[in-house]
Amino acid sequence: MNQPPPGAASDLARSRIKDLLGGKQAPSGQVIVKGWVRTRRDAKGVSFLEVNDGSSLANLQAVIYESDPAYSIIKELSTGASVSLTGLLVPSQGQGQKWELLVHKIQIVGPSGPDYPLQKKRHSDEYLREIAHLRPRTNKYGAIMRLRSQCAWAIHDFFRAKGFFYVHTPIITGSDAEGAGEMFRVTTLPPGDNKPEEDFFGKVASLTVSGQLEAELLAMALDRVYTFGPTFRAENSNTSRHAAEFWMIEPEAAFFDLNDDMDLAESMIKYLVSQALEHSRDDLALFDRFVENGLLDRLENLVAAPYVRISYEDAIEILVKSGADFEFEPFFGADLATSHERYLCDHFGGPVIVHDYPSSIKPFYMRLSDDERTVAAMDILVPKAGELIGGSQREERLDVLMDRMIKLGMDPKAYQWYLDTRRWGGTPHAGFGLGFERFLMMLTGVTNIRDVLPFPRTPRNLEF
Ligand code: 4AD
Ligand code: MG
Repeated sequence: MNQPPPGAASDLARSRIKDLLGGKQAPSGQVIVKGWVRTRRDAKGVSFLEVNDGSSLANLQAVIYESDPAYSIIKELSTGASVSLTGLLVPSQGQGQKWELLVHKIQIVGPSGPDYPLQKKRHSDEYLREIAHLRPRTNKYGAIMRLRSQCAWAIHDFFRAKGFFYVHTPIITGSDAEGAGEMFRVTTLPPGDNKPEEDFFGKVASLTVSGQLEAELLAMALDRVYTFGPTFRAENSNTSRHAAEFWMIEPEAAFFDLNDDMDLAESMIKYLVSQALEHSRDDLALFDRFVENGLLDRLENLVAAPYVRISYEDAIEILVKSGADFEFEPFFGADLATSHERYLCDHFGGPVIVHDYPSSIKPFYMRLSDDERTVAAMDILVPKAGELIGGSQREERLDVLMDRMIKLGMDPKAYQWYLDTRRWGGTPHAGFGLGFERFLMMLTGVTNIRDVLPFPRTPRNLEF
């Protein structure tokens, strides 16, 4: 391996714009900045570059005077080019920024050109979806990617502080965790050949729709665990809230009941939002300005106010009594539709935790009530994203669980590994799944899930 010469500065030591602009005083010597040109503006005897290096929303203004030898290549610098700039950070003479870079040396690292698809004007979300491979270079999509990173760190911090272990559940699976049959097949068989016994695993294999069942196994050993990984659903619903590949956070805790589960979920949402407000305020302010007027106030409120908790039965009653003209009629036993979710959030002015759903519309693993009408389920409905969280207390009684599986047409023999947790040392336990993209929609006010994913996968859309 080629070693750098002794004394050579690692690129990791290079200044990043976020740190330079946030500093109280300028570094004493020359600094090196590398990034991408957002705009060039030429005035008499001087050129100004706006450079962004991804470290934050803010650009660094670079100033190059005609008298400087570096000026000779300025005409080759167009929007989108990558550059390395060396110069002195000085107090800015212009308005709008505290510091600027007085450039003495410019190196074009990668040129751009007049065909560069991202010009200075604002582009529509639809246009940017068509060039999703370039859109992280815009202010809005750069901010979303930084927020994803910020929130991912906060998720790990939250669970770590509460004694949860980060576990890794499989992506390729032989079981349908939700029992909804919305799975993508994984196969090495040639097209047309449909003999699972001859396939790679000797049986039908799929991409996971949830890590829950495996997380339950681990919770029966580690007490408190969580997963955070990609999840796949072949729901052929082309909505603004469903992606075929999304990320889900799934905590699972032994000895938890439904109330513990709701408490955990509410405190998690509040923690993630408060951390984003604290560490990513500039990025969030962009959404407040351009996407949702009043976003920052809504987020402050999300952290401050307790979330309403109501039973599904009461929620249905509110919907029925509302007299609103819903597309789908609300009645006990119906799934809550988007318009119902929206009505409930508006009605209460914030997130609503709906619990105790009818057993007829929920999966096999949820704990059955004594009268068997409902299960110990809870969904958290939020403004902008609708259903953000789905969770439940799990059915820990072996006989009840087997009975329910059979009633739902499942084969308990295929789930012996799952049932074993109820045979030996089973405990009451609960958990939930939080859709990471839905969370980001709630956080930013962005209304289409395609715009909070770096590489969205939706029906008939798989560009990369
Ligand atoms: O409500 P769901 O289906 O619950 C489960 O998968 C449970 N196994 C979770 C658990 O208890 N461990 O999904 C959980 C959340 C939803 O509330 C939603 O936020 C998100 O995952 N989600 C989707 N997000 C984007 N695109 C989709 N197609 C989604 N389907 C679910
Ligand atoms: Mg759900």
